[in-house]
Amino acid sequence: MTTHLESLKKHSLVVADTGDIDAVARWKPQDATTNPSLLLTSAEDPRYQPLVERAIRDSSGDVGAAVDSLFVQFGVRILKHVAGRVSTEVDARLSFDTEKSIDKARRLIALYEKEGVSRNRVLIKLASTWEGIRAAEKLEREKIHCNMTLLFSFAQAVACAEAGVTLISPFVGRIYDWYKQAKKVDDIPVEEDPGVASVVRIYNYYKRHGYKTQVMGASFRKTGQILALAGCDLLTIAPDLLEKLSGVEGSLEKKLSVDNAKSMSIQKIHLDEKAFRWEHNEDAMATDKLAEGIRKFDADARKLEKVIASVAASSPTPIAASR
Ligand code: E4P
Repeated sequence: MTTHLESLKKHSLVVADTGDIDAVARWKPQDATTNPSLLLTSAEDPRYQPLVERAIRDSSGDVGAAVDSLFVQFGVRILKHVAGRVSTEVDARLSFDTEKSIDKARRLIALYEKEGVSRNRVLIKLASTWEGIRAAEKLEREKIHCNMTLLFSFAQAVACAEAGVTLISPFVGRIYDWYKQAKKVDDIPVEEDPGVASVVRIYNYYKRHGYKTQVMGASFRKTGQILALAGCDLLTIAPDLLEKLSGVEGSLEKKLSVDNAKSMSIQKIHLDEKAFRWEHNEDAMATDKLAEGIRKFDADARKLEKVIASVAASSPTPIAASR
């Protein structure tokens, strides 16, 4: 008898959403995704203290460089347990600066390449702001592949596809969180879940119009949301939900398919900068969640700097405080 997890792997590429290297080793997914919040949690875990110390040693006393080094140290170790790619996020503080985002992405890739990791095995995560999307468009021309994160609106998805990025991560759970709060309810059934509906709409639009950008559902709150998206190109799933999926027996039905999408009548749209900003702004959930997501990833990156500074204070390598 197959489990839900085994069955899901027949329909979608399963990715582990975690900064916990041991969890990646346990679940052996195809790819893995990290973000600043996940890596803050791991950096505070005594099991990974040697990585923090190594990042401090490698960074000549600069805390920003130590954060970059730490992200790459985690990525390199995660890659030992996956056949595919790891996603590493650019500093959220650069979300509205195309050129600095490009510089940071190139720096992260240079650090990976110094460790002997090819750029093909790394996805650079950038916030799906207009500036982030333009940075990704340029990076893709350098074969630096991008995973567009904090994606909440259809406008963001359209702009990412038009920019030819490798992959997008629409956030199911954070959309669900927003609507739960707006409707003042404790749950929204999967059939009415706006987070699930958002990924279905984007997937069908991309496949109907032949865009090569892949869709990776992210930010799940419950297994029902994952099952409703079986067939999506990729699904990135936290270890607690992987555990739940592996504990249930049964075969899953494929919910999304290219053939089905191709038979649909869906109008193609083009968004220039003004239209993108207007359309995104029309979506109150998306504007709230994008802004909040950037603030939260930034806050966690600053906390990570403090963790690094406090470890450095008790080590022989002095480290400069954050800007
Ligand atoms: C993955 O790429 C995302 O960063 C992650 O799924 C976000 O999940 P969260 O909404 O639970 O923080």
